[in-house]
Amino acid sequence: MTKQIQIAIDGPAAAGKSTIAKKTAELLGYTYVDTGAMYRAITYKAIQLNIDLQDGEKLTKLLDETSIELKPSSRGQIVFLDSEEVTEEIRSEQVTASVSIVAAHANLRKEMVLRQLEMGKNGAIVMDGRDIGTHVLTNAELKVFMSASVEERAKRRFLENQKRGISTNIEILMKEIALRDKMDSEREASPLIKAEDAIFIDTTSLTIEQVSEKIMQLAKERMI
Ligand code: C5P
Repeated sequence: MTKQIQIAIDGPAAAGKSTIAKKTAELLGYTYVDTGAMYRAITYKAIQLNIDLQDGEKLTKLLDETSIELKPSSRGQIVFLDSEEVTEEIRSEQVTASVSIVAAHANLRKEMVLRQLEMGKNGAIVMDGRDIGTHVLTNAELKVFMSASVEERAKRRFLENQKRGISTNIEILMKEIALRDKMDSEREASPLIKAEDAIFIDTTSLTIEQVSEKIMQLAKERMI
């Protein structure tokens, strides 16, 4: 019998992590957990309630009384915040521009990590984020750190938005992505960093299929 493993995929904004993580989970019949969606959901709620995003204590208390659920569906993973579906809402520009401020609070992250550990405890999981290999699935059999140039990531996000009928400006996207990378990498609490034992994949000149094939091969080697 093949072993059920944990797969941690980290990397900067718009590196294609969720596309690849979703595909890998599908191919292996594993659960996919998009941890970015969890940080986005609490950010969305805080904005709705007009809570100061710099106030870590208030935000952590808010998270304590908030339920965030990720459920698979025919439309991909859907996100529920206190039983209300917010899958689309958490992708808004306002949430995207604010989430890194919320995610920088150490105590809020502690609670998020506890929830993520619970989701991953039985293995057979693919989790993507910024600190999965370093602070969440620290014993994962496979850790991947994916990146691509800022230009390439902005281009991918631009095309993705275009498909969804959203018009964006590539220069603005580049600035937004670079700023989020900076905030995520420079924060004190579990910053975005490659785990020592993670495999680095530069996806700048690779197709989704090529990255997926590479990760499947790495996963299979670890399932024996
Ligand atoms: O993955 P996504 O771009 O949706 O993540 C949104 C934001 O959530 C990131 O820019 C980062 O600030 C935060 N995040 C995090 N740790 C994770 C996942 C996301 O700090 N594990």
